[in-house]
Parts: sequence; structure tokens; C-alpha cells
Amino acid sequence: MGLTHFECTRCGDHLPADSPQNTCPKDGGVLYARYDLALIRSKARKHELKHRLASIWRYAEVLPDAKPVSLGEGFTPMLPSREYPNVYVKDEGLNPTGSFKARGMSVAVTMAKHYGLKKLAAPSAGNAGGALAAYAAAAGLEAHIFMPKDVPIANRMECDYHGAHVTLVDGLISDCGRMVAERKDKQGWFDVSTLKEPFRVEGKKTMGYEVAEQLGWRLPQGIIYPTGGGVGLIGMWKAFDEMEQLGWIGPERPRMVTVQASGCAPIVKAWQEEKSTSEMWIDAETFAAGLRVPKAYGDYLILDILRRSGGTAVSAADDEIVEAVRHWASIEGVLAAPEGAASLVAYQKLRASGFFNAEDTVVLFNTGSAYKYLDRMEGKGRTVRPELPASRNIGGIIGPY
Ligand SMILES: Cc1ncc(COP(=O)(O)O)c(C=O)c1O
Ligand SMILES: [Zn+2]
Repeated sequence: MGLTHFECTRCGDHLPADSPQNTCPKDGGVLYARYDLALIRSKARKHELKHRLASIWRYAEVLPDAKPVSLGEGFTPMLPSREYPNVYVKDEGLNPTGSFKARGMSVAVTMAKHYGLKKLAAPSAGNAGGALAAYAAAAGLEAHIFMPKDVPIANRMECDYHGAHVTLVDGLISDCGRMVAERKDKQGWFDVSTLKEPFRVEGKKTMGYEVAEQLGWRLPQGIIYPTGGGVGLIGMWKAFDEMEQLGWIGPERPRMVTVQASGCAPIVKAWQEEKSTSEMWIDAETFAAGLRVPKAYGDYLILDILRRSGGTAVSAADDEIVEAVRHWASIEGVLAAPEGAASLVAYQKLRASGFFNAEDTVVLFNTGSAYKYLDRMEGKGRTVRPELPASRNIGGIIGPY
């Protein structure tokens, strides 16, 4: 069973899966891992899944057959909203390294180890770097990470503690990506950049399997996903197609919604202009660091999914995002990453516009934990900063009284 080959998403060419691959050698297209789904269909039963491990690896039949490098990623809670009866918050902040990036890196690093690769490299807006560093450490592989120098401090620190080689770059993730590309051959690095190897999509597609399983094998009417490079959205869409071929769901699909920050919204712009690819966003700026991706390598895939699903693309301004972080924290008890809270902004806008109504089941992805952004968030969105209690020494006991 399992993985049979890679297929180019542009020209449809097949490549063997017994050696590591990046992108299509002919046209640079993103490669998808393909499986013998007919064979899997004849053997795998979705209802047997409930007895399995609470991790992405419960979907072993539709993942590559290799010894997993796992830190317990996936199978995150699907929380019913306290505010909107038909809304769920899929809380990816509970993953190892505090974001959904763990899913993709678990599978990418598993396969790198399986192929015998030793040195991995990636540009990152922050969280992907942290996840790569952790999984590479667990696998005993070298990680070389290029990040903008102003990433949240947690991202720098986790990479450092996990023993990764970090280069801080005076620029954006696109500049970091160029630096990896320039150096990788000379250094003998395998490039695990977003969509430049096939397995991060495989890890992230498990979010699609989980949405279906956790909703009792029914898909919601909508999914809102904070989109930078777009792998989460692309992965889930791939999962839905696989599940239909496995007979696990029917032809129904959610309306897929991309949310981006107003300060970096290349997909929203391309969507509004009805283009099939995006243009590089100039002067990208937002405090939702993971959304500061001026040009997504898989933009053609993202825009195609939005179109085919009857979805849309929405932007959220930083001050709206800040307010949404506070709102979710106070109403839902979820302290979300700014990227995740952008989903709430998008939902509010799409309810106001009538795109979604109160009866629609909609899943909002909180893609990460706010704990990774404390340096960015302190004092944001309120006029008065909380009074810190002064400590006083009372009879040898130091207390904040
Ligand atoms: C918390 C968070 N949410 C969303 C994203 C965007 O993810 P993707 O690049 O898969 O679209 C990122 C990327 O860094 C992130 O860190
Ligand atoms: Zn191709």
C-alpha cells in the first residue's frame, strides 16, 4: 500500500517516489504525492480510525510508509464556538512548537530521514523554522534556517535551543528563500521550502481528514484559513479529493476562504482582479508574521481552489486582528496567534456581507498559539497598560501585595 509516485500539478508528469524530489524539473510545478487509493479503499475503513493514535499518523494509509519522526502533532481540538452556534475553532496552537507547521515538518523530516538526507534548509516567516528545528533535532539531522531578522523572539529562541543553524536576514521570507536557493547545492542542503518538496503538504492535509472525522464525516459549509504560502489550504483540498476517492465522503466541498493581512494580501488582490496567479506584494508589513509572504509559490493552486470551491479571499487589518485576538481570548478562552485570529475577522465580515449565514457550519482555523508572539502582543489593543503589582518583602516572603 501507500505512496506510488509524485505528480506535477502543472504538467501532470510522474516522478518516482523512491528518491527525494523538489519541484517538477520541466516547469517548476509543485509535486503532489500520489497513492494507490483504489487499493487503500478496498482495505481501509474510516470507522476503524477511532481506535488509533491521536496524531496525524492515525491516517497512516494516506501518508508515506516510513518510521515517523513524531512529537505528537495533530488531532487538535475542534472547539464549538461559544459565540456562534454553528462555528468551530480548530485549535492548531496545541501542536508541538505551537503551530500547525508541526504537521508538515513531521512528514517532511520523516521522509528526509527515510531517504538518508542529512542537511535540511528552509526559509521561514518564523513558525516553520521553529518546527523544522524541532523535528530535525528529534531526527538527528542538521537544520539550516533563514528568517527575517524581526521574527518574533520565540521563533529565534526555539531554533537556537533546538540546535539549528540560523541566519537572520534583513528582508522578507522571499529574500530568505533566494538565499537558500543560492547556497543549497554548494552546501549539500535539501530544500524543504514551502511547496518545494512534496511532504509538507502531506502533513498539512491531515487537517482536512481531521475536519471530516471530527464532524462525523460531514464537511462544513465553509473553512477559513489564514494564508501565507497556502499549504494548509492546498493540503486540505487534496485531502478532500482523496477522501472522496476512498469513499469516505461524497462530492460536497466547503467554500474555502483565504484570509490575509491587509499589509500583505497578494492572494486577495489577485482574487479581486480575477487573476490565476499573484504578483509580488511590495513593502509587506503586518504583525501577523506568518502572513508576511509577499508571493506564494503555489499561488496558482490557492486561487484555483478558491474558485472551484465557491470560496473567497478576505483581508484583515492589524488593528482588527488585535481586537479579534482579545475577543477570542475573552469569549472562547482561546489565546490565538494573530494569524489565527484573522480567521475571526474574516468570519465577521463574511457574516455581515451574507456570504455565510448563521446556519452554515464554518470551521475557523487558529493556526498557532499566541504564546509565540508575546513580545509582539504586549500592550497591543488597549489604551491603558495593566498595572503590574509592586512586590513587597513581608517577613521574608516576597509577594505581589
Ligand atoms: C501561525 C501561522 N498561521 C498561518 C501561516 C500561513 O501558513 P501557510 O504558509 O501554510 O499559508 C503561518 C506561516 O508561517 C503561521 O505561522
Ligand atoms: Zn511539470
